[in-house]
Amino acid sequence: MRALEIIEKKRDKHELSQAEIEFFIQNYANGDIPDYQASAWAMAVLLNGMSPQETTDLTLAIVASGETINLSQSVPVAVDKHSTGGVGDKTTLVVEPLVSACGLPVGKMSGRGLGFSGGTLDKIESIPGFRINLTTEEFLLQLEQVGLVLAGQTADLAPADGKLYALRDVTGTVQSIPLIASSVMSKKIAGGAHAIVLDVKVGLGAFMSNKEDAYTLAKLMVDIAHLAGRKAVALISDMNQPLGHAVGNALEVKEAIQTLHGGGPKDFKAHCMEVAAHMLILGGVAANKVEADMLASEALADGRAWKRFRELVIAQHGDVAYIDNPALLPQAELIEIVLAPRSGYLKEINARIIGETAVILGAGRTKKGDPIDHAVGIEVHHKVGDYLESGSPLFTLHANDRAIQAEARQSLLDAHIWSDTPVRALPLFYGVIE
Ligand code: URA
Repeated sequence: MRALEIIEKKRDKHELSQAEIEFFIQNYANGDIPDYQASAWAMAVLLNGMSPQETTDLTLAIVASGETINLSQSVPVAVDKHSTGGVGDKTTLVVEPLVSACGLPVGKMSGRGLGFSGGTLDKIESIPGFRINLTTEEFLLQLEQVGLVLAGQTADLAPADGKLYALRDVTGTVQSIPLIASSVMSKKIAGGAHAIVLDVKVGLGAFMSNKEDAYTLAKLMVDIAHLAGRKAVALISDMNQPLGHAVGNALEVKEAIQTLHGGGPKDFKAHCMEVAAHMLILGGVAANKVEADMLASEALADGRAWKRFRELVIAQHGDVAYIDNPALLPQAELIEIVLAPRSGYLKEINARIIGETAVILGAGRTKKGDPIDHAVGIEVHHKVGDYLESGSPLFTLHANDRAIQAEARQSLLDAHIWSDTPVRALPLFYGVIE
C-alpha cells in the first residue's frame, strides 16, 4: 500500500477501505507519511467527503494511533463536553467546574485554536504556570482527587489527531464533516469519558455554516459515540455572533471568571447552564432538566463552581494570584473603545470576521506552531437585535501593534451590520440530538 494511491483514490471520489485508512493514519502518526501528503489527503477528504463507515473507520484508526484511558479506574462515571469550535466560546472554563461542583467528575482533553475559532488550551495558558501536559497517571489521579481535569492531548492519546489538527489549522482543511467528527470523537473515545455532551455550532462563526450540515455532523458524532459504547447528546447552538462579549485568550478567561462569580454576559451564562444541565442528566446526577437546572444554579450561586475552578488551577500549577485578581492577566498595550458610527439596530455581528480579526491581532495562529499573544482580542459590547445611539461604545479593541490595530478596527466596524427597523434577537440553541 502507498500513501500516494490512497490520496489519488480519495481525489477520484472513491471510498477508502478500513485497511487503507488505518495504513494512512498509522504511518502519518509515526512520521512515515509527511505533512505534505497528509495535507493533500485532508484536502481530498474535505472536497469529496467520506461515508459514515469511512468516518467511523477514521475515528477508530485515530484512536488506535495511541493509548486509551480507562477512567473507570478513577471514577464510576466521568462526563465530558466538546464544542466543534466557535468565536468567544469559553464554555468549558465555566461548565467543567460547575458540573464537577455538582458531584460529577469531569476529565477533559481540550484543543488549541483552530482557524478562526479559539481553543481552550490557548485560553487557559493565559494563566501563568498552568500545566496542560499531564501524563495519563497524573490525569487519572487528579480526576480521582479533584474531580476535574483540563489537559491537552497527551502525546500518547490520539496522537494522529494532534498532528492532523495542527496541520488542518493551517491548510484550509478544517471545514469538513468527517474530519471534524473523527477529530472530536477520537479524542473523546481515547480520553475515556463515559458520557459526552457535544456542542455543535452553526452559523457564520462556526465550521458548519448551515443547519443541515450541523445536524449531519451532530448525528454522525452521536452514532460514533454509541458504536464506541458511550452515551452522547448533541446540542445545536447558534454561532452567528460571538458567544458572550470577549474574544481573545486572557479576555475570555476574565469573562469566564466573572461568570463563575455569578456575573458575566447573559447569553454566555444561559449557554453554560444549558450545556451543564445536559451533562448532569447524561451523567445520572439529575433525573430531569428541572432538577439539573436547579443543581447547576445552586453550584454557581453558592460559589462552589468558582471554588472548583480555583482547585483546578492549583492542581495544574497555575498561579492563583492571576485568577483571584484577573487584572494581573496579560493586558494589551493599546486598548481602544470604538464608538457606533450611527444609530440603529444591530442586524449582524459577523462572528467569522471577528474570529479572523482576533487571529490577525495575534490571538490565533496562521502557521503551525506560531506563538500566540494572550493579551490581544476584542470585547464586542452588543448582541444582534440591540438598539444603539450613534457614539455609544460598540466594541473595545485590545492590540499590541498600531498598524494591526487600524486594520482590525476597520474589519470590526465592517462586521457590524445595521438596520433602521427592529431586528429579532438570535436564539442560543436550535435543537438537541439525543
Ligand atoms: N474540534 C476538534 O477537536 N476538532 C475539529 O476538527 C474541530 C473542532
